[in-house]
Formats: sequence, C-alpha cells, structure tokens
Amino acid sequence: MNITVTKESLADFDCEVLLVGHFEGNKAPEGAARFLDEQCNGIIGELIDGGDFEGKLYTSSVVYTRGSIPGKRILIAGLGAKEEFDLEKLRGVFSKAAQKIRGLNITQMAVSLDFGETKFAIGDMARAAAEGALLGLYRFTPYKTLEEDKKGEITECIIVEDRPEHLEEIKKNAQTAQIISRAVYCARDLVSTPPNDMTPSILADRANAIAKEAHLTFEALNEAAMEKLGMNALLGVARGSAEEARLITLQYNGGGKGTPPVVLVGKGITFDSGGISIKPSEKMDEMKSDMAGGAAVIATIKAAADLKLPLNVVAIVPATENLPGGRAYKPGDILKTMSGLTVEIKNTDAEGRLILADALTFAGRYNPAAIIDMATLTGACVVALGDNLAGMMGTDEDLKKRLSAASDATGEMIWELPLWHEYNELIKSDVADIKNVGTRAGGTITAALFLKRFAGDCPWVHLDIAGPALLSTDRPYIPKGASGIGVRLLAQFLMDRG
Ligand code: BES
Ligand code: ZN
Ligand code: ZN
Repeated sequence: MNITVTKESLADFDCEVLLVGHFEGNKAPEGAARFLDEQCNGIIGELIDGGDFEGKLYTSSVVYTRGSIPGKRILIAGLGAKEEFDLEKLRGVFSKAAQKIRGLNITQMAVSLDFGETKFAIGDMARAAAEGALLGLYRFTPYKTLEEDKKGEITECIIVEDRPEHLEEIKKNAQTAQIISRAVYCARDLVSTPPNDMTPSILADRANAIAKEAHLTFEALNEAAMEKLGMNALLGVARGSAEEARLITLQYNGGGKGTPPVVLVGKGITFDSGGISIKPSEKMDEMKSDMAGGAAVIATIKAAADLKLPLNVVAIVPATENLPGGRAYKPGDILKTMSGLTVEIKNTDAEGRLILADALTFAGRYNPAAIIDMATLTGACVVALGDNLAGMMGTDEDLKKRLSAASDATGEMIWELPLWHEYNELIKSDVADIKNVGTRAGGTITAALFLKRFAGDCPWVHLDIAGPALLSTDRPYIPKGASGIGVRLLAQFLMDRG
C-alpha cells in the first residue's frame, strides 16, 4: 500500500471511504468527525446519540453519506478514552480500520488525522497511523495458489489534510512510516519463508538483492573463507547440514569516512532442529524463525539506507542450519573459536551463542562505536518475559538507555535483565575455557554472559527476541506469524543517533 498526502477538504474529496476517529465518552463528534457530521446532516451525531457507536478502542462503524459529500462512506473508528490514548493505540486503531476496509473489498482508503484536541504532535500521529495501517495489512501469500486467499489488497492510503501548517510534517512522517514498514515487511518475508526455501545461501542471495536495491556493500564468506579466519564455532554448528554456511555482511556508509560504525549482528539459524541434542517434534516447525535476528538486522540496515541516515552501519549475519547429520558436532566436542577461546559443547541446541561468538569477534574488525546483537537465543527468555517482550542485557548504560527510549517510541517492548557476573561460574568448563550451557535456571543470563566474552571492550548490548519473533496470535497491528520484531526498534535507535 502506498501512502500519499493531499491538501484538500474532506468535504470535497471523492473516495470510497473516509476514515475518522472518535473518542469514547465524547458526547459529540470532534475534529474531522464533527466537520463531516456538519456536512452530512448529523449522521455521525445520530449514531453516537442513539448509542450505536461508543468509540470503544478498535471498534468501528460504517455510514453512507448518500451524496451529501463526494466521499461515499465514512468509517468512524473508536479511539478509546482520551485520557488513555497514545501512539501505540493509534497504530492499533489504524491497523484494525485498514483490515476492516480490506474486508469490504475497497482498494483505496482516505484518512483524516484530525481527532480534535490531543497532546500528540501531528507528525508523530501521522507516522503511527501510517505504520499501524501498513503493518496490520501484512500478509504472506507467495505460497498461496488459490485466488480467494490473495485477493483484496488496499493499494493506496491518502491522508487528507487541509490545515496548511501541518502538511510538511505529515508528508515527512508518512514517508518515514512507509520506509520503515517496507523494512518490517522485508524482515517478515524473510522469516515467513519456509526453511526449504530459506537456506543460508538463499538468505545470502536475498541479502545481496536487498543490498543492490539499497546501494549497500555486500559480502558473504563461504566455509573455506571462514576456515581461514578460524571460525570453528560457526563451522562446528554447520557440520551437521548439507547446506553450506555463510557469513553475510552488509555495509551502509552514510556517515563520515572513518567514523566508527554501529555494528548490528543477527542470529541466522535458518532452521534449528537442535542438532544431536534434538528438539521435540511438536512446534519444531517454528524454528524456521531462528533467523529472525538476522532478518531484522538486514532489514534495519536497508531502512537506514532508505532513510539516508548520516551514519555508518554494518550488519553481520552468521547463517547456517543446525541439523543432526552424520558429521554433526556432538555434545562433548570442544571447538576453538575465532577469538582463540575454546568451548566445550554440552548441548548442540545451544548453537546460537556459538555462531554469534565468531560473528562478534568478526564484528571487532570494523572498529565499532557500538555492537548490538539480536537473536532468538533462549527459551528461558520466553519463560521469563513472555511472548511480547525482548530481553536486553549489555555492558553500556548509555546504549541501553538509548535502546529503551527507542523501545518506548516504537512500542517494540524490551526489558532489561541483569548481566550478573557471578553466573559466570555456571559456564566454567572442566576441560575447555567455557562451556556452551549453564543451568536451566537463568538461561537467558548465562547465554548473554557467554556472548559477552566475545564482544570485546566496545559498548555492547544483546537483545533476546525468542518470545516476540513469531507470534501465535494476532496483536493489534502485528498479524500472527513473523512479527519483524527489532526493525522498528533498531531503525528508531539509528534515527535518534543520526
Ligand atoms: N533457537 C532456540 C531458542 C528459542 C526457543 C527460540 C524458543 C525461540 C523460541 C535456541 O537455539 C535453543 O534451542 N536454546 C536452548 C538453549 C539450551 C539448550 C541451553 C533453549 O532455550 O532451550
Ligand atoms: Zn537451539
Ligand atoms: Zn536456535
């Protein structure tokens, strides 16, 4: 769906449907709803007076204008109580309204952002509304062959605005929303693609195509190149698979030459069976999402380029399958990482930290200003924080604060867990420098402590997205399935930094 902005009065705009909002508890319509009510002989007021529409959050009603204005229908969307209204709710409202309009088989929607008086800046509302509508309309259809499963896309959303002082802000923010939502779609598509069509080399090819389009530098190391670098942890995980591993690197140079980049590292396990320490078969299919961190960093660097942010960014994705083949790595094996540290394998299902270990060491080569890694790393994080929150652990207070601010702004929720150094005891090995699992309890923290050994001295934050990467139920503007988590968070972080 394309978002455009037009300077026109709602009274003159010809369209199938006009979307306006109404706060619960308001006795009379406000803002655009009031204006349209006046133009259309009180049809909205009548609906409210009659008790047919209360403005409850995510509800909506359709009324026909019957020729009183060129717009054929008005969709009045409930904004909930004004005291509780915020940008996160606005995203949900626009998502639900857009889904409803799609359900009416209408291919174009016109919207007003004049909700009457609110405490939010018009630009912020434009961005939240546009992102909500776009993100809520996402569907993954490449594998659907039946026409009825694919039909009915809204192709255009027009923001109708006649207050000249707001036009520029709305245009700028609608454009940002479009770019960021495209990046989220890109991450969701990568994660949704079934693992037979999302092998490490295919992921590298897709990253290459994205790089070409966004004018990024692309590089993918094959196993021979990784061997030269001594990436035996990554290669160890890859040994059970017939598919060759890749180390994908994308680079965006929007900042000054020589300015240290922000390096984003994303876990790229294209399928995690657990390896020799095999997982139960129930829900194993969900482990196609074990490259969601990798997808998020690829999509984020694309967004940074499309937004032309004035900074340097590197995205690194170690990509491999984790399978139990005849040559697979085994519990008891000891692997020598690129950093030189040796790791005793206690469980081949704790593979994410192994591939990230070598990727973090590799990241050090870019002289990073900061490293942020994102990974579907531990089931323990889902136990601790549930399906909606990402866990955050890291070594730098300022970096964590900035990520928390980006989290508040985008609604991609993160929660800090402590990197409690005493738990390093739990990953001490009798035979190697460290082992790849601690106890079941505190598993998210020991995984992060493991990664910390490879992050060097540079400010570093680890985000565990095991919970929110793949949703089993719809959220207001995130349809169930691949969520694209992390893209809006990291893009916002980079925008605020740039
Ligand atoms: N990819 C999984 C973690 C995961 C679990 C992601 C659930 C999304 C949803 C990871 O590689 C894994 O298997 N971790 C193990 C670690 C354990 C063996 C120490 C886990 O969490 O059980
Ligand atoms: Zn695993
Ligand atoms: Zn995994």
